Amino acid sequence: MKTRILIVDDEVDALGLMDELFKRNGYETFIAHNGLEALAQIREIEPDIMISDMIMPEMDGMELLEIVRKKYPSIAVIMNTAHGTIETAVEAMKKGAKDYILKPIRLDEILSKVANFAHMSSLMRENDYLREQLNDKYNFDNIIGRTPKMLELFELIKAIAPINSTILIRGENGTGKELIAKAIHFSSKRVKKQLVDLNCGVLAENLLESELFGHVKGAFTGAIKDKIGKFELADGGTIFLDEIGEISPNIQVKLLRVLQEREFERLGGTDKIKVDVRIIAATNKDLEKAIKEQAFRQDLFYRLNVIPIEVPPLRDRADDIPILVAHFVKKYSQAFEKKIVQIDDDMIDVLQAHDWPGNIRELENVIERAIVLSKSDRLSVEDLPQNIVYSNMIAVPELQAEEDSSLTNQVDIFEKTLITRALKECNNNRVRAAKKLGIHRSTFMSKLKKHQIGGDNKS
Ligand SMILES: Nc1ncnc2c1ncn2[C@@H]1O[C@H](COP(=O)(O)OP(=O)(O)OP(=O)(O)O)[C@@H](O)[C@H]1O
Ligand SMILES: [Mg+2]
Repeated sequence: MKTRILIVDDEVDALGLMDELFKRNGYETFIAHNGLEALAQIREIEPDIMISDMIMPEMDGMELLEIVRKKYPSIAVIMNTAHGTIETAVEAMKKGAKDYILKPIRLDEILSKVANFAHMSSLMRENDYLREQLNDKYNFDNIIGRTPKMLELFELIKAIAPINSTILIRGENGTGKELIAKAIHFSSKRVKKQLVDLNCGVLAENLLESELFGHVKGAFTGAIKDKIGKFELADGGTIFLDEIGEISPNIQVKLLRVLQEREFERLGGTDKIKVDVRIIAATNKDLEKAIKEQAFRQDLFYRLNVIPIEVPPLRDRADDIPILVAHFVKKYSQAFEKKIVQIDDDMIDVLQAHDWPGNIRELENVIERAIVLSKSDRLSVEDLPQNIVYSNMIAVPELQAEEDSSLTNQVDIFEKTLITRALKECNNNRVRAAKKLGIHRSTFMSKLKKHQIGGDNKS
């Protein structure tokens, strides 16, 4: 989608000049001769950027700026003003203009300023657009993603939300399991009833049991009155059992019974309680391994794993990083009332190369921190924590003084390092390593030979 620019100026020459300039540089442009005309257009065309002259008949630039800031805060406004009125420009910035340019207009200056905003606002716009679409379709408020894996996931959520089957959501830390559980509940028919969640990993066994199923007065010391458990609370709705891999064998048995018969007793009680609850469980544990080690019951696993949802780690969908960054920048710049107008491409590159063991939560934290610490309205690599920046750096082998320092030799050493590293990262799988390096397998093989790199003969 092209970035849309609305140019407002009462001087026809200036208008024509800018119109021409932006059109030639791939923007979609609209023009207005004064503030009133501009306002009439804005609602129709939803521009990303507005460039406005200061002194105009009907409604001047400052008044227009104030209205636009209030009614259309997502539009980046750049004011342009005649020489000598720097104070007015400062005043405009205070009123929320993102930037200003001084007349006479310098084409390179105005182009580069606009390019800064264009990049940012195209990301924002894409985000909003995607979210609107998703909201219309599935009511997924805050799940950002546009890579094929995520779109597949959205389709799956949409398909399974209305039915009542038990769901097991699996994925690494911070991949968005809880977010997805919520999306499922809120787009299901159970939306009017509660979504009750319980983190099974944090409670001691007896407490967890009473949280899940409730207890009757006197069931244990301290049980001074009857208590309703989460299953009862969720009746008609959904229960989200987080960190299901952590529950003890005893509770596994009880849960299995609820899954099979939809009934249970409160702790210490004898009445059978029947509930209509949809169960969504989540874990970051390797349950198959836990089953092998007899730490997790296989029959319970099958009952939970009716519909498995695998949430991909962030490193497998690096293409989502720019829109996630834009999403979090918007969230935190609003929260901290900071103005961020530009995200450097270099920063996005570094973020995309990182492997994100903490996934989206880690990315969110990095952006929050960057915004808190940033001293300007531009986010750059300098605003990132060192570990993220350094984790991308390739260790260049030290050259010994007596070594051949010719370019060919150094390039050879570098190539060898890259190949060795790629092999290591791919568990010596040569096909994958070649792919990772973006070279053909036969080229890769000849390079192995050249550098006398051995390793297992997996391929
Ligand atoms: N696709 C996404 N779009 C926007 N924000 C996301 C997305 N996925 C996760 N988040 C955000 O990342 C953070 C972690 O997400 P969430 O708590 O759902 O992950 P989780 O898989 O349950 O993590 P854990 O395994 O640590 O419990 C939350 O703040 C969430 O809002
Ligand atoms: Mg979670």
